[in-house]
Amino acid sequence: MSPDIDIPSLIARRKPGYSLEAPFYASQQLLDLDIDVIFGRHWFFAAVEPEIPEPGDYVTVTVGPHSVILLRDDDNAVRAFHNVCRHRGSRLVLDRKGFVGNLVCPYHQWTYDLSGALVHAESMSACFEKSRFGLKPVHVRSLAGLLFICLADQPPDDFEEMAAILEPYLAPHDLRGCKVATQIDIVEDGNWKLTIENNRECYHCGGHPELLCSLFHFFGYAANDVSPSQRAYYERFERVHEEFVRIWQAQDLPYEPVEKLSGRATGFRTERLALDGPGESYTMDAKAACRRLVNGFTSPRLGSLHLHTQPNAWYHFLGDHAVTFSTLPLAPDRTLLRTTWLVHRDAEAGRDYDLDTLTQVWRATNEQDGTFVGNAQRGIGSPAYEPGPYSPAEYMVDQFCTWYIERLSAHRPR
Ligand code: FES
Ligand SMILES: [Fe+2]
Repeated sequence: MSPDIDIPSLIARRKPGYSLEAPFYASQQLLDLDIDVIFGRHWFFAAVEPEIPEPGDYVTVTVGPHSVILLRDDDNAVRAFHNVCRHRGSRLVLDRKGFVGNLVCPYHQWTYDLSGALVHAESMSACFEKSRFGLKPVHVRSLAGLLFICLADQPPDDFEEMAAILEPYLAPHDLRGCKVATQIDIVEDGNWKLTIENNRECYHCGGHPELLCSLFHFFGYAANDVSPSQRAYYERFERVHEEFVRIWQAQDLPYEPVEKLSGRATGFRTERLALDGPGESYTMDAKAACRRLVNGFTSPRLGSLHLHTQPNAWYHFLGDHAVTFSTLPLAPDRTLLRTTWLVHRDAEAGRDYDLDTLTQVWRATNEQDGTFVGNAQRGIGSPAYEPGPYSPAEYMVDQFCTWYIERLSAHRPR
């Protein structure tokens, strides 16, 4: 068994502008701390409302020892409960998703309604009070259809402030009016923070030929960071961006970057991005993958609304679809990446969109990113690893690590 790591010293030694020390990525002790502090005491992205469109629909989300049921109740409200029976603790719901009339425990059939109230418990004594044994609720909020949960008794109080800022950006994309076209889970062979860090920069985007058919390479770059060989490409990007600004302004679509990635419990960043070529979608020809646009948009040439939320997610909202990404730790060196593609709820596969075309770019990009993350994990596992310096274009990685260290410090282990 490895000796205990001195976590307060590790936190205190963090050098801004450099990657984190190896134990942050490799040790079970740190993963346990991440699950306790980061996932246990902060809002994190769990699902989208279209995963549970009808009363009785549910999904489960697992992180460390926690399993949470998110369901739609009979009043169409979203609720979340710990997936733990109040009798002798059995997991209540065993599937990842499904539909229920009531929640019936598979062990002794204690039965809960969709509000979490215990409604049936066979052969209990006369003095048994069912009302004392409802399911334990979990805090849940919907931000324009994105479902966030918080496992703490007292969640951070800045969620509503984030929601007020982001609602005007997200509302035009009407996520609640969408359906899930498909959802794909993959497991990356790296720590969950490496998956997020990899997402927070485009310094590596040369490794994504499919994505670069539509995405300009300059996400996270300031004009000064662009190399001479990229200058003409950057100037084209600036011209296209100006065209898109006129499109966004004409449609009253908020587009200015908002960046609140650290210095607060609930960190986030959004920005509307110009896309290359036709500028419509993340496809190989940058044209819309779904001809039924979301929310009655009349033109798909809208670029991409880009969103990050700490600790575990990123999202893209386009004229023809949306795609969400959530990461959940499985082990110090294994991370679940769940990608969900959404289209207008009336769009039909085969008629309005082809699923392969819709998903091709991000399936390829996820696979490439998984390789980058796995390679980083293996390198960090070597005694030769030491934290290395970020480029200016990686400032959002630095911001993620700053947020992470701030949050560990705020809940310093005793
Ligand atoms: S543990 Fe659920 S009914 Fe017994
Ligand atoms: Fe990538």
